[in-house]
Amino acid sequence: MSEQLQFGFASLANGPEEVRMGTDKIISGITRQDWLEPVEDRLQKLLHEGFARGGSGGQKIKNLLHGTWLGHPLHVILTDVPIGAWTVGLVFDFLETTSGRKEFAAAADASITIGLVGAAGAAITGLTDWQDVDPPARRVGLVHGMLNLLGTSLFLASRVMRKRNSRAAGRRLAIFGYTVASAAAYLGGNLVYEQQIGVDHTSGQKLPENFEKVLPESELPEGKLKRAEHNGVPILLVRRGKRIFALAETCSHLGGPLSEGKLSGDSVQCPWHGSRFALEDGSVLDGPAVHPQPCLKARIREGQIEVRKITDSDIAKSTNNIEDSRSPKKSSKKAGNKTGTSG
Ligand code: FES
Repeated sequence: MSEQLQFGFASLANGPEEVRMGTDKIISGITRQDWLEPVEDRLQKLLHEGFARGGSGGQKIKNLLHGTWLGHPLHVILTDVPIGAWTVGLVFDFLETTSGRKEFAAAADASITIGLVGAAGAAITGLTDWQDVDPPARRVGLVHGMLNLLGTSLFLASRVMRKRNSRAAGRRLAIFGYTVASAAAYLGGNLVYEQQIGVDHTSGQKLPENFEKVLPESELPEGKLKRAEHNGVPILLVRRGKRIFALAETCSHLGGPLSEGKLSGDSVQCPWHGSRFALEDGSVLDGPAVHPQPCLKARIREGQIEVRKITDSDIAKSTNNIEDSRSPKKSSKKAGNKTGTSG
């Protein structure tokens, strides 16, 4: 074990400041375990190849496991199942040992089984997310996964021992498993709160409330991704015929620059991990992203492209426009309008 990791664990026995320093040391100790790099590379490659081999079906499964359909990372939801069920299992174990009642033993066993099923779901979704995580968070993610695997194996062994009527051994294994799973959960928290994995990377960006100039119209060529800026916030512009689309340029997944990505039909693909967003409304078409891109309304005034945030009334109007477009007369009139808008 490295000196940093040893110092980190030793500090955990002291006050809050020491605990904080200790946990920081543990995380930085983990990120320095360079011997894990080939394992990370190989595993990520295997996962990418596995999903890619499935073609569009593989991408659909990937989207399902990321939680693209849910607008929220699925892994984060599923991790609550084993932690919750195993916590309840330990409580029933305690009640069984103090009361000797058989119904508590049955409840403890059932809780551990539920936790094992939840852990399998959390492992599959976690691996799917992890394949698109970059260093240094990638290494913390790998250790988080390995600890979870160990914790789950201990609970599995605990369940087997209970089945064989070695209940005392089963309870001990459950306590070990819970300790390891808690350490894994701590690393999971670090990944989200410190390393911003799974959070919306566009959140907090101040997009203009009112129309603001961001680019001369002449500088936006047809069918090209263009980065503009408003008060330091990057904005992606795309001209398609008479329409101009505008989205937040920072990818919601991990902050990739969408203007350096690929325009594919009416969508933009992030250059970092391949998330695809609809130009029309910023919705996620393909993960790993789960959060939609903020979408802006665009117009041209005096040779300048102006953008502003989409409001609720824009969304209501756009719904009406979808209904109007069923009438051929109204659609052709709209297509003749010089000013293009997104959203
Ligand atoms: S940053 Fe990961 S897909 Fe864009």
